[in-house]
Amino acid sequence: MESALKIITPFVTTHSFFIFPEDLNHTGNLFGGKILAEMDLVAARACRRILYGTKCDGAVTACLERVDFKAPAHLGDIIELNATITDLGRTSIKIKVLVYKETPIGETSMICEAYFTFVALRKGKPKAHQCILITPSTQHLN
Ligand SMILES: CC(C)(COP(=O)(O)OP(=O)(O)OC[C@H]1O[C@@H](n2cnc3c(N)ncnc32)[C@H](O)[C@@H]1OP(=O)(O)O)[C@@H](O)C(=O)NCCC(=O)NCCS
Repeated sequence: MESALKIITPFVTTHSFFIFPEDLNHTGNLFGGKILAEMDLVAARACRRILYGTKCDGAVTACLERVDFKAPAHLGDIIELNATITDLGRTSIKIKVLVYKETPIGETSMICEAYFTFVALRKGKPKAHQCILITPSTQHLN
């Protein structure tokens, strides 16, 4: 018998880091591959929080739909990543990730946006997560 449904209300998962010299590409900008890896990690962390208490034992990245690198970031900037669950399928979990930079003089701006799909697994196979996302637009259904 499947476990009870888990109700998820919107939450933001955050992660941040300082840009060190080894994070730069040859132009002196934050390396795109570094940003992608950090986005994948914050999205994975959001998925993990969803799956606590379910019968799933993990989730994998299935798809990275669109990435917009809107502005560069540089040595010494602080990068903050925010992951938000936007939709839940039977086994899939859609996540929006926004990336911001904070410069050494305190100016902040968004530098990147991407949309991930993760798939919940049990023993390496897709598994229904039994989670339902309640957003302001669906709350009237209760
Ligand atoms: C992701 C993966 C588990 C899907 O397995 P699968 O057997 O093809 O899955 P299914 O066809 O049963 O689909 C399961 C769900 O995944 C979704 N899905 C599968 N491939 C997808 C893709 N490329 N993009 C978006 N969603 C996808 C399906 O829509 C379905 O969602 P739903 O249950 O919410 O309706 C499998 O392709 C895989 O293991 N890929 C490698 C993952 C990986 O190594 N990632 C990098 C490291 S984490």
